Amino acid sequence: MAAKILVVDDDPDVQRTLAYTLKQEGYQVVVAGDGAEGFRLWSTENPSLMLLDIMLPKLDGYQVAAKIRAEEGSNAHVPIIMLTAEREVEQKVRGLRAGADDYLIKPFHTAELLARIKSLLARFAPSEALVGRPPLGRVHVYYGAKGGVGTTTIAINAAIALHRELGRKVCLVDGNLQFGDHRVFLDLGLDRRSIVDVVTAPSIDIDLIQQILVRHDSGVDLLLAPPSPETAELVTQEHMPIILDLLRTAYDYILIDIDKKLDEINLRILDLADVIFVVMTADLSCLKNVRLVLETISNLGYEHDKVRLVLNRSNAFTGINVKNAEGALKRTIDHQVVNEYRGAISALNSGAPFMFTRADSLLGRSLLEFARVVDKLAPVGGGKLEASTSRG
Ligand SMILES: Nc1ncnc2c1ncn2[C@@H]1O[C@H](COP(=O)(O)OP(=O)(O)OP(=O)(O)O)[C@@H](O)[C@H]1O
Ligand SMILES: [Mg+2]
Repeated sequence: MAAKILVVDDDPDVQRTLAYTLKQEGYQVVVAGDGAEGFRLWSTENPSLMLLDIMLPKLDGYQVAAKIRAEEGSNAHVPIIMLTAEREVEQKVRGLRAGADDYLIKPFHTAELLARIKSLLARFAPSEALVGRPPLGRVHVYYGAKGGVGTTTIAINAAIALHRELGRKVCLVDGNLQFGDHRVFLDLGLDRRSIVDVVTAPSIDIDLIQQILVRHDSGVDLLLAPPSPETAELVTQEHMPIILDLLRTAYDYILIDIDKKLDEINLRILDLADVIFVVMTADLSCLKNVRLVLETISNLGYEHDKVRLVLNRSNAFTGINVKNAEGALKRTIDHQVVNEYRGAISALNSGAPFMFTRADSLLGRSLLEFARVVDKLAPVGGGKLEASTSRG
C-alpha cells in the first residue's frame, strides 16, 4: 500500500504543489491548513510521514512536533520533515529538538524533497527482521581510562546511532551516580525522573523502570543519574544487576556510562557486562591507566574479548600514534573515533548530540562507523563475542 503523507502548511499554493508532486510519486496525501488540524489528522489518519511547516496558525510546527512526540507510544515514531523559511542553524536545531527528524529550507527542489522522504520512510519502516523478535539484551559498559577522554560523548552518540541509524531498541544508563552528565549533554532538567525513583520504589519490575525512563527526542530511552550526589547513596551494589537484567528483557542494547572508580557497584556492572569499552586517548598517562585497567580486568578473570579499546580523538596530534600505543599496550586498538573539538564541544554546549543534529558531520560519520562495528559483535558460544559479518 502507498505510504500516506500528511502535509501541514497554511499556504494554499504550497498545499497544492506538494499534494500534486506527492500524488505523482504514488503517495497518498492528506492536507491540514493549521497546526491544530495537523495534530488532529496525525492521530486520526495515522500517516507514514509528515511534512510540517513552522509558521502555522493555532499551533506552530515546533509545538505540533513536540505534542506528537509527547503522545506517541514508545514503539511508534512518525518521521517528520520540517519545512522552514528560516536559514539559521539555531532554528534547525530547535526544529530537530522539538522532535523533527529532518528539515528542508524553502524553496527546495522536488528531487531533494522526494529523496529525503524516501530515506526517512526507509529508516523508520519497521524492518521485518526486527519486528516481533526478542530483544538482543546486550549490556555494553563504557569506561574511561582517565577523566575527560570522551567516554560520555561516545556512549551517548553510540546509543543514538544504534537506535536511529541501525534500528535497535536502546536504553542509555548514566552510571556516573554522583556526577552524571547526561542531563547536561541532553539538555534535560533536574526535575526528570532518575534511577533514584527506581531504587526507592516498593518493588522493581520492568514496567516500573519503563515509566521512569525518559524518552529522548532521538528515541533513545534514558535512565538518568540521581539529581544530586547525596541521593546517589541510595543506589547500592544490589540494585544495578537487578535493573540491568530487567532492561535486558526489553532492549537490544543497554549502554551504561560509568565513572572511573572500581568500587563494588562498578565491579558488579563490569561483571555482568557483555562488552566493556575502555575509552582512551593517546597520551602517556592514559596509556598507563589502560595498562592498569587491562591488568585488573585480567585479574578478575574476564575473557580477553570482553574488553575492547576505543581510541578517541585518534587523529589528534599527541606525538603518540596508534602503532606506538598498540606497541606500549601489547594489544590492538579495536576502535577509533576522530578528533573534532568544535563539533564535540558545540554539541555538548547546545544539549543536542551531534549524532542527532549533525549525523553527517565528520564526528557523526566516525561514530556511526563505530556503532556499525559494535552492532556486528555477535555473541558466540559461552558468551564470548566475535566480530561477525552475518548481519548488516
Ligand atoms: N572525538 C572528540 N573530538 C574532540 N573533542 C572531543 C571528542 N570526544 C569528546 N570530546 C570533548 O572532550 C571533553 C570531555 O568529553 P566527555 O565529557 O565526553 O568525557 P568523559 O570521559 O565522559 O569525562 P568525565 O571524566 O568528566 O566523565 C568534552 O569537551 C568533549 O566535547
Ligand atoms: Mg563522562
